[in-house]
Amino acid sequence: GSNLVGEERADFYGAVKLNWQDLMPFLSFFFFNHLQGPGKTGTDCALDCGSGIGRVSKHVLLPASGRVELVDMMEPFPAEAPNCLRVEGDRVETFNCYSLREFTPANGRYDVIWIQWVSGYLTDKDLLEFLSRCRAGLKENGVVIPKDNAAREGRVLDTSDSSVIRDLEILRSLTEESGPELLREEKQEGFPDQCVPVWMLALHDAGRSLKWGNPRGEQVGTG
Ligand SMILES: C[S@@+](CC[C@H](N)C(=O)[O-])C[C@H]1O[C@@H](n2cnc3c(N)ncnc32)[C@H](O)[C@@H]1O
Repeated sequence: GSNLVGEERADFYGAVKLNWQDLMPFLSFFFFNHLQGPGKTGTDCALDCGSGIGRVSKHVLLPASGRVELVDMMEPFPAEAPNCLRVEGDRVETFNCYSLREFTPANGRYDVIWIQWVSGYLTDKDLLEFLSRCRAGLKENGVVIPKDNAAREGRVLDTSDSSVIRDLEILRSLTEESGPELLREEKQEGFPDQCVPVWMLALHDAGRSLKWGNPRGEQVGTG
């Protein structure tokens, strides 16, 4: 029956996750690392949006930032989150239990606002407004990094959890409309072909940061 199909599908995703989950944080980390440095993005404070138990914080943000704050509408499972983040306990400042629909990052506070695998739970309007509030939450040279599955074309509804997967053009135009400008974008390489492609965008407030060159090409200027 339909149940079995659901179970098979869950297994399939589970298997893919197990094979690739170790590689992914490194790729994210390198992408982020290129944006940091003197005169570029700072390393003081990061915000992990839709953090879940804090995998992104642990593998990507904490190795590159002094302090990390998390926000998710669900409390992390008490048994899991401390485990995931225990070693870095002191540098995890705050866990905010809010929906991104109502959460406003504090003005000018963050070097990086990371939004991974959560934008699909927001409507276009909510996402647009959230990205606009994120822009206001950036420090000078700060970046907003949405990282998400990208549909091949249009919007694809995932009926299992009512999330939506948008194609890259839609993601780009939503971010454009919301205010912060595209600085770089990169497809996450190394996934098997049957997986949905994953893209990372780096957005910044062009008025308050350096011009780093062509977003779809290599950086220009001093490395
Ligand atoms: C697929 S998980 C991604 C977790 C984490 N970002 C990662 O990449 O490992 C989605 C997370 O988004 C959270 N979430 C879903 N809708 C949300 C909303 N409207 N506001 C805040 N968090 C939300 C869920 O509770 C869940 O922890």
